[in-house]
Amino acid sequence: MKVSIIGGAGYVGLITGLGVASMGHKVIAVDVDELKVKNLQKGISPIFEDHLESLLSFCNINNDITFSNEPSQAIKNSDLIIISVGTPINSEGKIDLSQVNSVLESLIENLNPFSLIVIKSTLPITAVKMLKDELNKHYKEGRDFEIVSNPEFLREGRAIYDFYNPDRIVAGADSMKSINILKEFYAPLIERNLSIPNEITIEDKHIPFIKTNLPSAQMIKYGSNAFLANKISFVNEIAQICESVGANVNEVISGMGLDPRIGNNYMQPGPGFGGPCLEKDLNALIELGRHYDLEATFMSAILDRNERQVDLLRSKLNNIVDNESKSRIAILGLAFKSGTDDTRNSASIKLIDKLLADGHVVTCYDPVAISDIDNQNFTQYGDIYDCLEKTDCVILMTEWEEFKSLDLKKTFEKMDGDTLLDMRNLFTRDKVESFGFKYVGLGS
Ligand code: UDX
Repeated sequence: MKVSIIGGAGYVGLITGLGVASMGHKVIAVDVDELKVKNLQKGISPIFEDHLESLLSFCNINNDITFSNEPSQAIKNSDLIIISVGTPINSEGKIDLSQVNSVLESLIENLNPFSLIVIKSTLPITAVKMLKDELNKHYKEGRDFEIVSNPEFLREGRAIYDFYNPDRIVAGADSMKSINILKEFYAPLIERNLSIPNEITIEDKHIPFIKTNLPSAQMIKYGSNAFLANKISFVNEIAQICESVGANVNEVISGMGLDPRIGNNYMQPGPGFGGPCLEKDLNALIELGRHYDLEATFMSAILDRNERQVDLLRSKLNNIVDNESKSRIAILGLAFKSGTDDTRNSASIKLIDKLLADGHVVTCYDPVAISDIDNQNFTQYGDIYDCLEKTDCVILMTEWEEFKSLDLKKTFEKMDGDTLLDMRNLFTRDKVESFGFKYVGLGS
């Protein structure tokens, strides 16, 4: 099939574009960002993601994908148009639909009947309805176009693995025509008939193809992300209670997880969930609730608990450091989780802002993420041990492999102080204390 991806240089768009190209479709990935498009044409990826560079060069060499800034030709020449533009939160806390609106304009000007419009971005349910209504003013749904919701479930850092080994493909549409086209489109992935570099893992697995109506597909995505966020806020609260009652959260999670109804996946206490999706999708559900006059109190509680987690970390620190004089604090990890250079909604950034506001001097190290914090009391280092030099306290914020093998003896020697806050429970108390540190973990 001829496929265009609108928003093709973004996280989801790029992974999807390359994945679709390796399924044997002819792909044009369109993006407004000229620099990203130029770099992608040269094989330079705008994001850090496992196996991305090799997949990009593989697809570029085989001419399976082209990158362009020009949506009109791409839309005119496509059987299937994938929308994967961003839907960020604006300064008023509302979902910013400006990128969706500009796609709508391009569609109205260039749509070539019949085209299947596939929504990959997590668009508000009301926005998909708006897209349909607007397109229907110029074209006839069913005859000229159809819209299908086909949410992605890619995790940053594992996105390429997730693309090729999905737990399910969800297709939400109002007609069998759309569903059948989408089924044909995904056949190479379902049949595991793919042309990709050897280093990418393809599991031998059955991939369920789920048919639903449009809003159900969207709710599968929202419900999944809200449930995942709920697990993290839940376990963070359990960890907090464990600290007060003298329990150990790791033992508690293991014990709870043996009940197959609970399991122990996605149950690691941490500094709070970050990234572009969980918080945004909870906010979208709260917004949807307002639209339909429902109060999404549970969703609000998950978000509130997550915001409180960073304050709890700040108070853990304030209990240790001397608040009268400025402390020098090392933060290890800026990315919202390991495996990515993404710092959006990162708990690290939220904590650094608070520490700087409290008057501390903050040093920081991350193997790939770069901060744009502009403050004379903040320095990012390219070497982990330079970052630790003469610091009073070190806080582990991201679960990078590199941090798990931190040389604790060297760390202790470099630092002036003796406190290690481990916000990912990467170490055991006994091990850290054996090097002379005071250890503060989560949930024990
Ligand atoms: C999430 C969903 O997992 C994915 O399906 C969806 O498509 C996009 O949103 P992502 O944001 O990449 O993916 O990261 P994820 O691995 O889900 O982690 C989100 C946050 O939760 C991170 O900050 C992570 O550190 C935190 N987390 C995750 C925990 O604190 N504990 C856990 O046990 C798991």
